[in-house]
Amino acid sequence: MMVLIFSSVDIWGDDEDGITEDNCSRDCHIVLAENIPEEFSLRMDGRHSLPLAVGFHSLLDQAKTSVQVVSSVWNLNSWEHLSASQGQLLFQRLQSLRPRGVKLKIVSSWTNSTELKALEAHGAEVRSVNMTALTRGGLHSSFWVVDRKHIYIGSADMDWRSLSKRKELGVVVYNCSCLALDLHRVFSFYWQLHDRDYIPSIWSKRITALYGKHQALELQLNATPAAAYVSTSPDLFCPKDRTRDVDAISQVIQSAKTFIFISVMDYLPLVRRSFRRTSVTRYWSTIDEVIREAVVLRGVKVHLLISFWRKTHPLTFNFVTSLKSLCMQLHNCSLEVKFFSHKEQKDDFQLGLNHNKYMVTDNAVYIGNNDWVGSDFDRDAGVGLVMKIKDSHQNRRVTVLEQIKAAFVRDWKSHHAKNLQKSKDQQGKRGSLQGSKGFWDLTEENDWNQSL
Ligand SMILES: *[C@@H]1O[C@H](CO)[C@@H](O)[C@H](O)[C@H]1NC(C)=O
Ligand SMILES: *[C@@H]1O[C@H](CO)[C@@H](O)[C@H](O)[C@H]1NC(C)=O
Ligand SMILES: *[C@@H]1O[C@H](CO)[C@@H](O)[C@H](O)[C@H]1NC(C)=O
Ligand SMILES: *[C@@H]1O[C@H](CO)[C@@H](O)[C@H](O)[C@H]1NC(C)=O
Ligand SMILES: *[C@@H]1O[C@H](CO)[C@@H](O)[C@H](O)[C@H]1NC(C)=O
Repeated sequence: MMVLIFSSVDIWGDDEDGITEDNCSRDCHIVLAENIPEEFSLRMDGRHSLPLAVGFHSLLDQAKTSVQVVSSVWNLNSWEHLSASQGQLLFQRLQSLRPRGVKLKIVSSWTNSTELKALEAHGAEVRSVNMTALTRGGLHSSFWVVDRKHIYIGSADMDWRSLSKRKELGVVVYNCSCLALDLHRVFSFYWQLHDRDYIPSIWSKRITALYGKHQALELQLNATPAAAYVSTSPDLFCPKDRTRDVDAISQVIQSAKTFIFISVMDYLPLVRRSFRRTSVTRYWSTIDEVIREAVVLRGVKVHLLISFWRKTHPLTFNFVTSLKSLCMQLHNCSLEVKFFSHKEQKDDFQLGLNHNKYMVTDNAVYIGNNDWVGSDFDRDAGVGLVMKIKDSHQNRRVTVLEQIKAAFVRDWKSHHAKNLQKSKDQQGKRGSLQGSKGFWDLTEENDWNQSL
């Protein structure tokens, strides 16, 4: 029997800096980075958060030796769109890293893109992960590691839309080599999957997790004591000790005491699995059940903000209606669902889309790459970051948790976030959503004041 083993050689030269988990930096500076399309007229809190494009440029400013980027989509340098100038600018800066002596390493799902070819011509090393062969899924992972010291993680792809017309949320963490070392291990794992159609059964020590849900990294985030770790999906991509995304999400939900605010593009507790040419769809209860417990048994207030867009699965409405009905006749029970909607453009339905994938609670934040859909966690590669903020009361600084909560509340209160009602109109009005049975209306009635 052949033993399939990952090469124990790390990416050459990447550990030249000599930083190890024993002497890495835990005194980190974190910034919330958002992209909000202008037409939404949603204000960003300029003191505490950065426009996403500025976040990426600041990371490139800091880079001295290496920039590692994971993104499935590469569509920055579009000349067909007037609003693509931020994408073009970022693309030009990525091309000009080499002359500065900075190595650019890219992992994508598909290397035959003209953009990646152009970056290669400018000295980038590009590798691909064939998710079709590995799990029949897709690569949803999106993160940066710079000099094994600074990181970005969030909802954005290397797509010009992420820097102008699509709503994105992520974080940039500076001077945080402990966390960066661990995310770098995820990067090394992808790097080694290049051109493979199997997952080795034995893993090099250099890609196993440094931190996880039982052993989180203790660190300072903007001088506030916190704990953090990185999680990944799917299960096959979780080497020893690496926490799975769904376990990270469950842990954050289970440790919430007063509120859980969730903002995701899609929410669907279903998983579709294929067995020899047939596919079976099953109920996927993992996240649904911890939400139900939190709401009914612990009295935690849950707000769920989902995007309403062309690809919203019709059963979404049934599942969220089922969640909402839990609180019937119960005191101290609150679960509200709203849909974030935007004017769809005929030619490009991603314009104006709320692409966020995060959760914030009274004591923790989870920022991920996958939507909360069973099939996505089951097959698609993604990465998540959990941050628990400790004793935020002692400290008068505004924490990243409070900033992300404020971003959620801003979206929830905005007129883009709409309630859902079963439509009385059997044919459906203009703008109604077609569900599996009948139609649903989005209404703007805002019961905000009583709800918080
Ligand atoms: C960190 O520790 C390693 C050995 O554990 C050592 O080789 C390296 O020089 C140290 N780096 C710094 C910056 O102290
Ligand atoms: C790669 O893309 C080019 C042009 O876009 C195309 O001509 C070529 O056939 C593609 N190669 C593969 C292997 O798909
Ligand atoms: C990925 O794997 C699938 C299935 O093994 C194969 O058909 C496809 O050609 C591969 N794609 C690339 C780009 O290698
Ligand atoms: C990172 O640390 C260096 C050296 O301690 C400091 O000069 C720099 O301002 C820090 N960067 C950020 C973004 O905090
Ligand atoms: C419900 O809330 C009220 C007022 O906040 C509180 O007095 C009561 O103990 C709560 N009941 C339960 C079952 O938690």
